[in-house]
Amino acid sequence: MRIFAISDLHVDYKQNRNWLDDISTYPEDVLILAGDVSDRLDRLQDALSCLTEKFARVFFVPGNHELWVRRGECADSLEKFTHILDLCANLGIATRPEKIDTAVWIVPLFSWYEKEGPESLCVPKIGEDPTLQIWSDLHFTRWPPLNTSIAQHFLTLNEPISKRKETVISFSHFLPRQELIYKDGIIPDVIQPHPQDPHPTFNFSRVAGSKGLEAQIRSLGSHIHFYGHQHRNRHHTIDGVTYISFALGYRREQERGLTDPGKGPKQIWDSRPF
Ligand SMILES: [Fe+2]
Ligand SMILES: [Fe+2]
Repeated sequence: MRIFAISDLHVDYKQNRNWLDDISTYPEDVLILAGDVSDRLDRLQDALSCLTEKFARVFFVPGNHELWVRRGECADSLEKFTHILDLCANLGIATRPEKIDTAVWIVPLFSWYEKEGPESLCVPKIGEDPTLQIWSDLHFTRWPPLNTSIAQHFLTLNEPISKRKETVISFSHFLPRQELIYKDGIIPDVIQPHPQDPHPTFNFSRVAGSKGLEAQIRSLGSHIHFYGHQHRNRHHTIDGVTYISFALGYRREQERGLTDPGKGPKQIWDSRPF
């Protein structure tokens, strides 16, 4: 059994939906899908159904796009989250931890981002708009009153968290560490806008993820953590955990080489004898 992973299919783009049709079938293998398939429930269901036909088992967590409620389909983003988990259950897609053979646990971790404060991955950016007016989540998500932050709310849904004696592969849509944002893994004191930055006032690190997610990964004793959201392909090993990101992303990102999905998802594990 092999484990493959990918994120950010964004099938609203026709060429991305076509890519999904064109990938091979993996009848004995597992797929981890780390969010951002579509904010449209019909397209999400279509893409997930397609993947259940291509893989023996599919694991999924919603990304931020799935929780947009701009079409009045649900009262708020948490209601839509519950609706999506029900949809996954009906399609036979796993959204909770599961032991997939005698030696490997796959652990989906629900998450969101902290825009500021000690749990945030934020690094200040020169000239940024800290109110994030350009960020679609600000306009398309809706939240009921919560006793805690949105990020903390989702982390609480992952509990209880405990170490396991088997290999643990966890995954989330959002990032768990600041280093992962940067190709070289070095956290700057301040972000300088790149001369070709199309959105110089937008600071991605404010919407990247949360440190609470990393705390859960460490409590689990994850060997590999797969994540999405940034639309950058990354591979970092930090303090014994290998962090991998592999996104389909937008066409303009594929053309710039920021993502390179090739002919299918990325293999991240192989339990067969070599
Ligand atoms: Fe995305
Ligand atoms: Fe995302």
